[in-house]
Amino acid sequence: ASTVTRTPDGVVSVGGIEVTRLAEEFGTPAYLIDEVDFRERARAWRTAFGEDADVFYAGKAFLSRAVVRWLHEEGLNLDVCSGGELTTALSAGMPADRIAFHGNNKSVDEIETAIRAGVGRIVLDSFQEIVRVAHIAQSLGKRQRVQIRITVGVEAHTHEFIATAHEDQKFGVPLAGGQAAEAVRRALQLDGLELIGIHSHIGSQIFDMSGFEVAAHRVVGLLKDIRDEHGVELPEIDLGGGLGIAYTSADDPREPHEIAKALHEIVSRECEAAKLRTPRISVEPGRAIVGPTAFTLYEVGTIKPLENLRTYVSVDGGMSDNIRTALYDAEYSVALVSRTSEAAPMLVRVVGKHCESGDIVVKDAFLPADLAPGDLIAVPATGAYCRSMASNYNHALRPPVVAVREGEARVIVRRETEEDLLRLDVG
Ligand code: LLP
Repeated sequence: ASTVTRTPDGVVSVGGIEVTRLAEEFGTPAYLIDEVDFRERARAWRTAFGEDADVFYAGKAFLSRAVVRWLHEEGLNLDVCSGGELTTALSAGMPADRIAFHGNNKSVDEIETAIRAGVGRIVLDSFQEIVRVAHIAQSLGKRQRVQIRITVGVEAHTHEFIATAHEDQKFGVPLAGGQAAEAVRRALQLDGLELIGIHSHIGSQIFDMSGFEVAAHRVVGLLKDIRDEHGVELPEIDLGGGLGIAYTSADDPREPHEIAKALHEIVSRECEAAKLRTPRISVEPGRAIVGPTAFTLYEVGTIKPLENLRTYVSVDGGMSDNIRTALYDAEYSVALVSRTSEAAPMLVRVVGKHCESGDIVVKDAFLPADLAPGDLIAVPATGAYCRSMASNYNHALRPPVVAVREGEARVIVRRETEEDLLRLDVG
């Protein structure tokens, strides 16, 4: 559970350290990640899925070397989707065979690096990639374990940009029209590949298990077709990530053990009906592990009341450290964390310091009417897809990630400096 608490004088602390102290030591904005909470969540997924399943943490949500070590220690595997994520994982000691490599357009270099490193699986995303990976593996004298990512035609109830299993989008090989079956046919013929399973990822920030149910049904249906046609029972299926978290009190997420139970039940029921051996299941949660474990600490700057509308509260960061509100219309909450206040609530919009009116961190929230420049406010649930999607827009310096645990704080990703910016600018 989260170690965030509030002292009687209204100061919030995390990992036993008051945010006022953290702000002094590390500056703002900063992402504060609760290591104990992270490890507990990772472990909860691992335990829930048990020994006959694998949990691959989706590194795209947030990846750093410390995180890789935590995952390794807690017995999780890792899903990476770029050469950069792969390098980070390997450099922090994640065994290559516990890494899955994803992506709809992996470069030849990335594929070569992954195969040489000995990654546990490459998830093939297209007909061209089947051939490409097979050739590269063969030229390296290897046989690469692979899965084929299929799109099962499910409409996940989530934002259009993060739904991935409907037909008109770039990922995977469509199940429709026998395309997935054809991809399997080709993969089975190629010496450089060892086809171990089928992969499906239906989208992200999903609460409703019915999409997974349909996906599992269709993936198992394909396994059955493969058995009937080729006489092989593929040993694994991966149902991807996508489980939602609570950004505001309106969201009601499922616990890992409920998810594990539901997925195990669906898959074994479907396999029984198809008279197939139950394959080993894997999942790829990113947000559900890291999302709730971090918050962003900002210092309040200019406050601008707009009569009859709302009050604009500017913070020292913005869309460069959290693009999700601008990009997906995401909902966040915010709280005053450096003191108590008895003042009446006022309707605010928390905005950043960037040169666009869409630079909104929290669209609608209430903060005390006596809010003043210098107060610290926190936006919870920014562990996933905030630091990992951060930018240098307006030459902003990306904030640090500070891990707190049992009264100790340590920088795991340092704040960018102006020297970092100038180092890249070689003109
Ligand atoms: N596996 C695959 C193949 C994926 O593409 C993703 C996410 C995951 C697992 C992890 O999904 P999660 O459990 O974290 O939902 N930037 C967006 C989310 C994009 C997710 C892309 N793929 C956001 O900020 O909401």
